[in-house]
Amino acid sequence: MALSDYERYPLTFGPSPVHQLQRLSDHLGAGKIWAKREDVNSGLAFGGNKTRKMEYIVPDILASGADTLVSIGGYQSNHTRQVAAIAAHLGLQARLVQERWVDWDDPVNDKVGNIELSRILGADVRLDPAGFDIGIRSSWENAIAELEADGRKPYAIPAGASEHPLGGLGFANWAFEVAEQEKELGVFFDTIVVCTVTGSTHAGMIAGFALLEEQTGVKRKVIGIDASATVEKTRDQVGRIARHTAGLIDLGRELRDDEIDIRTGWEGPAYGIPDDSTIAAIRTTAELEGVILDPVYEGKSMAGLIDLAEAGEFAKDSNVLYAHLGGQLALNAYSSIFD
Ligand SMILES: Cc1ncc(COP(=O)(O)O)c(C=O)c1O
Repeated sequence: MALSDYERYPLTFGPSPVHQLQRLSDHLGAGKIWAKREDVNSGLAFGGNKTRKMEYIVPDILASGADTLVSIGGYQSNHTRQVAAIAAHLGLQARLVQERWVDWDDPVNDKVGNIELSRILGADVRLDPAGFDIGIRSSWENAIAELEADGRKPYAIPAGASEHPLGGLGFANWAFEVAEQEKELGVFFDTIVVCTVTGSTHAGMIAGFALLEEQTGVKRKVIGIDASATVEKTRDQVGRIARHTAGLIDLGRELRDDEIDIRTGWEGPAYGIPDDSTIAAIRTTAELEGVILDPVYEGKSMAGLIDLAEAGEFAKDSNVLYAHLGGQLALNAYSSIFD
């Protein structure tokens, strides 16, 4: 089936904005750095990358007749906050399993930022002491079974909406949105840099840009920066979802191994724990551009971009597109870093 034949329920404002990061580009002296802003893509509770993924999942939710969305993430999950907002927007309930994914000793970790918004949005938020894992969790399966036993009709959305069969379509379409914006801007983005954890953002882009390459013959690099610190699981998940999504959109060929490009070195000591490079990238981007990044995801992918620029990965005439996927609300639980 062609990508354009998949039903898409609008949750975003339309194409997310693209702009140059001029002062950061001057500072790095390695090509022009641009940003595409999923952090301002929607009016639903600050939006973000999951809102874009969910546009392709909502038609299935509505067709299923579900009354409750069930999902899972860490205490400061951006994903569950977006699920809560989408449930409210659709007039559905949300049941959220929030696990202790991050061993971060901040007394308000389970109270402020994303989790506060999920509560405001009316979601049934349940804390669980389990640690980080991007796979399918028993706590989530138990929540689904419990709702069913209560006579409710749950709709299951896995962590990051990644393992959902339609989870990669949102960012496959992102590639085509980029191609349209390139025409308007008169620019070609030869390199994309994106944070990757549960995998379907990066995987969708890989499938989408591969299809675009088939149609135009033009190649580009899509570099995923691991922020999971469990890269083998993320690599496996990205590869699997990319291949599945490529099949869904009729790519017509196998993805090559070199198309699944995940770099490590900026993930910090663990998922959700920043290191010096994360904090330096957050400060540099804020001070040079007035653009805010978070310590769990985007600070890590920006740290990767900065180091890759300094290591000569980008040619002087490159246009590098940094995918800003959102996540700033979690900063509320990390105030001690910037005291
Ligand atoms: C702000 C932000 N950036 C990046 C990611 C990584 O995206 P994915 O889980 O699709 O790999 C996430 C979610 O996990 C996120 O919330």
